[in-house]
Parts: sequence; structure tokens; C-alpha cells
Amino acid sequence: MSKQLKSLVLAGTAVSAGFYIWKQLKGHETIDNPTFVQKYGPWAIVTGAARAEGLGFGFARQLAGRHINLVLVDILSDELEARAQELRERYLVNVKPVMLDLGRADFLPELTAVTDELEIGLLVCNHMFTPVETPTILDMDLDTHHAMLNINARAYTTLVHTYGRKMVAQRHGGILLVSSQAGMHGTPYTGAYSANKAFQLMLGESLWYELRQSNVDVLVLTPGLTRTQGTALDGYPPFMLMDVEPVVREALAGLGRQHQVIPGPVNKIFNFATTHFMSREKAVVTTGDLMAQGLNK
Ligand SMILES: NC(=O)c1ccc[n+]([C@@H]2O[C@H](COP(=O)([O-])OP(=O)(O)OC[C@H]3O[C@@H](n4cnc5c(N)ncnc54)[C@H](OP(=O)(O)O)[C@@H]3O)[C@@H](O)[C@H]2O)c1
Repeated sequence: MSKQLKSLVLAGTAVSAGFYIWKQLKGHETIDNPTFVQKYGPWAIVTGAARAEGLGFGFARQLAGRHINLVLVDILSDELEARAQELRERYLVNVKPVMLDLGRADFLPELTAVTDELEIGLLVCNHMFTPVETPTILDMDLDTHHAMLNINARAYTTLVHTYGRKMVAQRHGGILLVSSQAGMHGTPYTGAYSANKAFQLMLGESLWYELRQSNVDVLVLTPGLTRTQGTALDGYPPFMLMDVEPVVREALAGLGRQHQVIPGPVNKIFNFATTHFMSREKAVVTTGDLMAQGLNK
């Protein structure tokens, strides 16, 4: 880690630590709130939920633990079936796996065919596609750029629009968009992903405001590095990585209380430092240097 980054992390500690503890204490009140199922149940949709180590399955587990039935959506068919069965056996909830390519322009009817008879109280938009090779913006071929826009932007809009309208009509619900710290400012070496994540963040923040009077809560989760990718994140400083469970717990605790959750103290400190102690240009340079180190560029 560069000297500059170290000093930034230290500089934000005092403010962010107090803020974090306060948020944690507030959050636990929400988790134990008996109205969670009434407000966000009886069914939730979680997209990108097939991988055992992923954030989507983390959401599915914690929601099942709160007695919410689940529609799990992913492109990975066998893994999705296996996750659904695990949840049925462990939490005794109903689970409907729906294998779908959310990059297809016409995916919606296949999903609504399953959900039309269900009362969907929560939508967790979590799926994403980005190439593992992390090419620069101009090195990535245009077809991949367009596929990313379809999966990470167009599908998010379709899902939010469709289920948001239903929730407003039924007068309760929640929409949780899983964006990223990479969407807070330009993130070199994963520039297209960063742009997709910024789209999700802006969509969610604006929707949060527009639905404030409708009893439908909107929250954007912006995680930093999270242990979902096997060894792919091994190049980053280990203290920057979070486990899935606390990320999901903090997000669910923030639903209905905050419009955005930046999980964990390190991500809060990093965000505080890049938004308060440096220009936006400097924030992009600092992030780019960190990415170059982590990705061995
Ligand atoms: N892990 C991190 O460090 C981190 C940090 C910040 C934000 N996030 C965000 O957290 C969310 C979950 O990420 P994760 O790390 O848990 O990764 P993940 O397990 O790979 O989750 C993404 C899931 O979406 C699926 N998917 C991809 N394309 C799809 C399509 N066209 N239709 C349907 N499903 C599709 C993926 O399947 P395939 O594996 O076959 O592509 C995968 O199962 C993402 O939105 C990500 O941007 C993650």
C-alpha cells in the first residue's frame, strides 16, 4: 500500500469509527424488528444467487433465516438448483429457482410467469457480469461493453421498474440494488464495470427519493472488496477485504433507514478519505494505483 493511501486510511479513522459503531447499533434494532416479514415478505427476488460464496446467496440465506420465501434468479442452472435445495432444507422456506439470462432483452415474461401469483415484498438486484481479465476500456471489445450494459444496466432498470410498480400498488416493499464502491468514482482497469455501477447507484438514489412517501424502501449497497471471488482478490491488502455475511447483515439492517450502505469500517474510511481529503481527480488516481497493484497491471 502506498504511503499516501496509508495516511488517508489513518486520517479517516476517528470520524468513521464512531459513525460505524453508531450505525451498527442502530442496525441491530432493525434486524430484530418483527415487522421485517410484513414489510418485505412474504416473497423476495434475489438475482445472481447461484454461487455458494457470492453475495446473492448471502442475501438469500439471511432472508430465508427471517422466514422470507425466495425466487432465485441466475444464469447458472445447476448451481441455482443446488442453492435452492440447501435453503429449503435448512430454513424450511419455499424457494423457486428461475434460470434466466438477464442480458436478454426479452427475459421479463419468463420471470413474471413465476412471480405473478406471488406477493413480492423485496427485490435484491445483485447479478452482474464483468470479464475476469479486467481489460482497459479501449482494450475491451464493443460486444462485451454492450453485454455489460444489457446485464448490469438494462436488466436492473427492467427489474426495478416492473417490481417497483407492483410494490407501490401493494403499498409495501423494498428494493435493494447491489452497486459497488467502484461506482462512486471512476475506477481504472475496471472502467466499464465502474460506469455500470455508477448507473445502478444513480438509479437507486433517485428512486429512493421518488418513493419516500410510498412505503417502498430503496437502498443502494456499495460494497468494497468482498471475499466472493476465490483467489482473484489476493493481490489487495487483506484488511481491505470483507466477508459476505457482515456485508449482507449491514445492508439488510439499513433497509428502510438509509438510502445507501457502505459496509464495514475500512470501506467507510476509504470513502470518507476519497470524498473529503482529496479532489475527485486525485481519488481516481489513488483508486487506479490501488487497482494496478491489486490486479498486477
Ligand atoms: N465481490 C466483490 O468484491 C464486490 C465488490 C463490490 C460490489 N460487488 C457486487 O456484488 C454483486 C455480487 O457479486 P459477487 O462478487 O457475489 O459475484 P458473483 O457471485 O459472481 O455474483 C454474480 C452472479 O450473477 C450471475 N450472472 C452473470 N451474468 C448473468 C446473466 N446474464 N443473467 C443472470 N445472472 C448472471 C453470475 O453468474 P456467472 O458467474 O456465470 O457470471 C453470478 O452467479 C455484484 O453486483 C457485484 O458487482 C462485489
